[in-house]
Amino acid sequence: MRASIPAGLGHKEAELYSRLDPARFPRHIAIIMDGNGRWAKRRHLPRIAGHRSGVFAVRNTVQCASRIGLPALTLYAFSVENWLRRPKSETSFLMGLLRRYLKIEMSAFQENNVRVQFIGRWRELPQEVQDRMDWAIAETAHNTGLILTFAINYGGRSEIVDAVKAIVNKSRSNGAHFEIDEEKIDQNLYTSHLPELDLLIRTSGEMRLSNFLLWQAAYSEIYVTESLWPDFSGVKLLEAIAEFQKRERRFGGIETVPHSTVHTA
Ligand code: IPE
Ligand code: IPE
Ligand code: MG
Repeated sequence: MRASIPAGLGHKEAELYSRLDPARFPRHIAIIMDGNGRWAKRRHLPRIAGHRSGVFAVRNTVQCASRIGLPALTLYAFSVENWLRRPKSETSFLMGLLRRYLKIEMSAFQENNVRVQFIGRWRELPQEVQDRMDWAIAETAHNTGLILTFAINYGGRSEIVDAVKAIVNKSRSNGAHFEIDEEKIDQNLYTSHLPELDLLIRTSGEMRLSNFLLWQAAYSEIYVTESLWPDFSGVKLLEAIAEFQKRERRFGGIETVPHSTVHTA
């Protein structure tokens, strides 16, 4: 069955979309946005020029994701390790870029009905950055379309530590019987309210998770593209979805599961 083409897609996006199977759309896609520095280096530009160009790729990808009706898109923008291991000049630039991006993008978020949120230890960031993030959450809280989550000062291991701590603290405060199982950890992850992660994309050709969504990626399909992040786009998102639809998802069983709504836990 062919999908009816949503309004607002570019020519190439519409063509790719028309070949997709509406019954096998992913509900949650996450992207490791990697390769900004290499993009800049190839052009003999400073690394920050790559980050600046990366914002255009974010804009284009988010716009396409919201137009095709994707329920959830999670973007890895900044890891715990990035914060610790990159020069202060680069991390400060990224913080400033995030603040500017959220402000400039607000009209597009509203137009496209996008709800913005953040995961990670972002409460450790400078206050002015947190203020802008709080503002973006509040301004878009009423939107009902794409849930756009930015992972900022995020680490997959620290997320699991935070989940376990939350469980322990809650059990202590209500004196409840102490028990930990997969469902409980799931419910206490930063992503508890998001659909199961169906597709994890990484740009720039690296074949690693770099501490991103370690728990959630248990049965996700992984798609690695050689494109550097600033060259990514809605078209490339649709190419990744086309590839996703060709995969056989078995979730440990022996038969292909025909769509993306199966939960593993
Ligand atoms: C990804 O690009 C952006 C962030 C991690 C913030 P990089 O800055 O990691 O670019 P490369 O990997 O050095 O090319
Ligand atoms: C992963 O990219 C983090 C983000 C995209 C935010 P890195 O560039 O930090 O990952 P490594 O260092 O190549 O593993
Ligand atoms: Mg990198």
